[in-house]
Amino acid sequence: MINVAILGYGTVGSGVYDVITGNNDVVSRNAGDEVKVKYVLDLREFPGDPVMDILTHDYNDILNDDSVDIVVEVMGGIEPANTFVRQAIEKGKSVCTSNKALVAKYGTEILSLAKEHSVSFLFEASVGGGIPVIRAINESLTADHFDKIYGILNGTTNYILTKMDEEGLAFDTVLKDAQDKGYAERNPEADIEGYDACRKIAILTSLVYGKFTDFEEISTEGITKIENSDTVLARSGGYAIKLLGLTDKNENGIYSMVAPFLIGKNNPLYGVDGVYNAVNLHGDMLENVMFYGQGAGKEATASAVVGDIVELAKNKGVTLPFGWTEEKVKLSDNLAYETKFFVRADKNIEEELDRVLDSNIKLMSDDAPDSVAFITDKMSRAALDEKLGNLDVHVIRVM
Ligand code: HSE
Repeated sequence: MINVAILGYGTVGSGVYDVITGNNDVVSRNAGDEVKVKYVLDLREFPGDPVMDILTHDYNDILNDDSVDIVVEVMGGIEPANTFVRQAIEKGKSVCTSNKALVAKYGTEILSLAKEHSVSFLFEASVGGGIPVIRAINESLTADHFDKIYGILNGTTNYILTKMDEEGLAFDTVLKDAQDKGYAERNPEADIEGYDACRKIAILTSLVYGKFTDFEEISTEGITKIENSDTVLARSGGYAIKLLGLTDKNENGIYSMVAPFLIGKNNPLYGVDGVYNAVNLHGDMLENVMFYGQGAGKEATASAVVGDIVELAKNKGVTLPFGWTEEKVKLSDNLAYETKFFVRADKNIEEELDRVLDSNIKLMSDDAPDSVAFITDKMSRAALDEKLGNLDVHVIRVM
């Protein structure tokens, strides 16, 4: 018997409970032993819910029960999740989590604490919801040097951008609709400002380069400045706008950022719509490999968490290793990172913009009659800013 304790009975926690109980045949078969939820920890009561029989409000019940093998942290946030995870590990219990904030901030420390105590710490659901990208990087993509990793890492913003594009709606209108439908949080800041995607690209970068990547050093821009004229003009040129997390290592350094990008039709990320996420890695042997699936949502995320539980059950008594050291990745200044740029402005400065950018690609549309956009050649942001001077424009990178 593998006894599991779930910390937090919110969306993901109740999903984990449902998957373990509802899919117990396949979960237990894959684990090689019967998997059972012994405790659920939450401050709230859930009258009428079957979980009431195993609900506790006191974490010590779990910590002091030696029959609990695996603690599942799905509370979110830094505290008390951080303390609870460390206490479980110190008691010899393996832990899995969906908490990207915790993994991005303390992943290095928690992994070494788990090693010290001969248990494991897994976090598949912290990036890409149900997409099995972390285990793939850690266990399968181990023969390449990866120079570039980028992806659509946030379901909420991808849903908003897709709706803006497909229905020609303004950002605020779509955000409100997403909130009403429960896709976006009442406080959507972490998603729309890119903070959520920032933690996810930091985790992926730490895994891919084997060194700790500090999310606070990753420049992060969200989608709040995207206007309808941007999506319309981008579309007229055959592009979709997507919020990307990106880390790119080239001869000048390692660049990491979260920012909106124009994606052309020939890039597989172009067709990744709604709450779907996708991650693309480029290695020196493998070249491109892409992962695609639901990046958010109760069942998809819970499926990834329970996948970790099965992995932990199969590896009782050992530490599953991660090639993620305490050494820190040194990131270069993104002002020097070279890409093409989409530069959108009011029509009344079209001539001046045309002259300073000297671009061959001009985008116009009857659906955005007062705006014009240009696609520049590849250059650094610093070089672009020098050309633009004080011109009032909106700039988006082009992948
Ligand atoms: N808020 C996140 C998203 C949830 O929208 O992608 C999954 O991490």
